[in-house]
Amino acid sequence: MDAPPSSTEVDIEAENIALAEEKWKEDEEIAHHKEMDKKEDSWSWMKEKRFSNMFKEIEHRLEGVLGTGRFEWVDRRVFDQVFDQRTLLAVYKLMQQGHIDTLDWPIARGKEAHVFHATTPNGVAAVKIFHTSNAVFKGLMQYIEGDPRFGGLRRRHHELVNIWVRKEHRNMMRMAKQGLKVPEPHALFRNVLVMDYFGDEEGPSPRLRDVDVDDPEPIFDELLEWIRVCWKDAELVHADFSEYNILWHDDGPRVIDVGQAVAKGHPHAEEFLVRDVTRLVEWARRHGVDVEVPEAMAHVLY
Ligand SMILES: Nc1ncnc2c1ncn2[C@@H]1O[C@H](COP(=O)(O)OP(=O)(O)O)[C@@H](O)[C@H]1O
Ligand SMILES: [Mg+2]
Repeated sequence: MDAPPSSTEVDIEAENIALAEEKWKEDEEIAHHKEMDKKEDSWSWMKEKRFSNMFKEIEHRLEGVLGTGRFEWVDRRVFDQVFDQRTLLAVYKLMQQGHIDTLDWPIARGKEAHVFHATTPNGVAAVKIFHTSNAVFKGLMQYIEGDPRFGGLRRRHHELVNIWVRKEHRNMMRMAKQGLKVPEPHALFRNVLVMDYFGDEEGPSPRLRDVDVDDPEPIFDELLEWIRVCWKDAELVHADFSEYNILWHDDGPRVIDVGQAVAKGHPHAEEFLVRDVTRLVEWARRHGVDVEVPEAMAHVLY
């Protein structure tokens, strides 16, 4: 089992819930939710006429994730892991709205989300699809489902996932607005987020971790400035700033994965800021830049 949440995690969750309450608008009636929840884990819903029609309508646009497209290496199991009914409906909706034309191939798979390359009517996009249920949860579902005492759980989990995506979307917008180099969000619906794609037809741009850096100092300066503008102008802390969440694109760094970023007012904001700056300084020092945490912090704060 997972360890109990730390006080930081509890705080973050509380902030997320507050955020959701502030802006949350349910897209559908609760009854519809419940109907979907009942059927979620089985594929029986696919046999229903309206869904099978819907699926037929978009099936050819999902070839890249079904393993039937031009990329033979795509594992059909990805589809089964990611695309439950709810997710398929969200993708359908985004396709109807013209934000996605085709899903082409999986870029990356994480614990919480899969990222796909997509083609859109205006070019390309990255589509981050958050898993609606985590593995632990899925395993337990068979014991929980149908037990009236646990009726609320599943819905709550979905809501948290949707809240998380909404938060990543809002953070991205707020950062992009200040000119910070992040993928600009195009659209979101439930657990699916569409944003700028950093990469080419071959694959995504490399992570800073995987790049040979000749001249680290200007990169350090640019990233420290990123943190400063984020703190001062966007009033956010990334909170997971690392060489894994920075892509090297068009000869410069682009910061991704901003779901966990918190507002300045968050009780642990300063702590996260120090941690982000420390990680960046450590990266720079490993690459031979002579810099210390206090002077870097001073640049961010003053
Ligand atoms: N906008 C994007 N353009 C290109 N690749 C991306 C983009 N966003 C994410 N990726 C790829 O997906 C991986 C995981 O994305 P990330 O947002 O860091 O999710 P996670 O929460 O799983 O860490 C990244 O390391 C990168 O390779
Ligand atoms: Mg990441």
